[in-house]
Amino acid sequence: MSGPVLEIEPARALVGHVTVPGDKSISHRAALLGAIADGETEIAGFGRAGDTESTLGAIRALGAEVEELDVDLVRVRGLGLRGLRPPGTPIDCGNAGTLMRLLAGILAGQEGRFELTGDESLSSRPMERVAEPLRKMGARVETTDGHAPLVIEGGALRGIRYELPVASAQVKSAVLLAGLFANGETRVVEPHATRDHTELLLQARGVPVEKQGHTIAVAPVDRLELGRIDVPADFSSAAPLIVAASLLPGSELYIHNVGVNPTRTGLLDVLERMRARVTLFNRRKLGLEPVADIEIRSSSLVATAIRPEEIPRLVDELPLIALAAGMARGETVVSGARELRVKETDRLESVKELLRPLGIRISTSDDGLRVVGVPSRPKGGGVVRSNGDHRMAILGTIAGLVTREGVRIEGAEAAGVSFPGFFELLDSVSKR
Ligand code: S3P
Repeated sequence: MSGPVLEIEPARALVGHVTVPGDKSISHRAALLGAIADGETEIAGFGRAGDTESTLGAIRALGAEVEELDVDLVRVRGLGLRGLRPPGTPIDCGNAGTLMRLLAGILAGQEGRFELTGDESLSSRPMERVAEPLRKMGARVETTDGHAPLVIEGGALRGIRYELPVASAQVKSAVLLAGLFANGETRVVEPHATRDHTELLLQARGVPVEKQGHTIAVAPVDRLELGRIDVPADFSSAAPLIVAASLLPGSELYIHNVGVNPTRTGLLDVLERMRARVTLFNRRKLGLEPVADIEIRSSSLVATAIRPEEIPRLVDELPLIALAAGMARGETVVSGARELRVKETDRLESVKELLRPLGIRISTSDDGLRVVGVPSRPKGGGVVRSNGDHRMAILGTIAGLVTREGVRIEGAEAAGVSFPGFFELLDSVSKR
């Protein structure tokens, strides 16, 4: 794959105040729930990005009316719990795994036959993991050799108790959403805690969702009414800035209004162990979601170990952690991260392939990474590739900033899948 090449020059420091787009995970959920709610749902702080555009397209195709009142303000007129209608043509989920898996859970409760497709990357990702529990609940779900296209014929569902074979918030959410339509309680048991945005959104609207240890139970409902949903800024989009500012001496960066749900902020725990200087202040809540402003100052980092139970809390940030580890004193070992191999690309291999040529000593294992850090700027230079993976485009950019020679990125535009405006925002705080 070759496309336009973007030149990333080294930066001296990151200084200033910024905000990043709304949380992608919460935006997907808000729009999907809005489509099956009664009446209007207003989503403020909507995280507009390639992935969430796919979600708006999908709910429109299913008959929901979507008004885009502003870049980050969306109004969805819902069709009621069982009101989604088969469009007669496949629903394109683009690059968005969250959309495909969560929507599968909702469609399992609808009448009719629905087909879900995705782009090349999404079509290579495992879908049996959602199909299997939804079949147990009584839906007919067909995958194509375990992948998309998915065909779902929903209808009457029964509540089940389901033990997740892998820690995945997408699969957990698909089962819980299907549970809204079931004839009794649905329970999901997760091996490690994963992001709980679905649970919090439902709880905030009075849906009985209970959590005990690693078990989450949801009861069926007759109707949903959401009203207004305020979405905090996306911690995963703040993450590249947090890591860059930690690594660039003299940085002093503030990121405002960031979602700091503890199921998402594993990066902060890791950085604390690495002796980074990150401070959360002005803590508050948006709905049931914790939010804070974040101050980052640079510091000399040391290596750490990242354990399997931590992975779900930093699953999308692990590529950035590998970069930080490359500039930290000592050896950092990551284990229990096999899930990274089934993201938009195989992110264990992608991270190694991207960072190694820049001078970072990194190797992969079956389920993790090993990085031998050197507390100085890597050399950099040369071309890195995103391979169409937004997190790799973003990692390549941050790597370029902290190297001595910068990098050129092929496929940088992939960043727009989660973070439109990323390059401009970074430029606005980069001191050169
Ligand atoms: C997400 C869950 C995670 C994460 C993805 C978003 C979500 O995926 O990597 O970017 O919104 O539920 P898995 O559930 O597959 O781990």
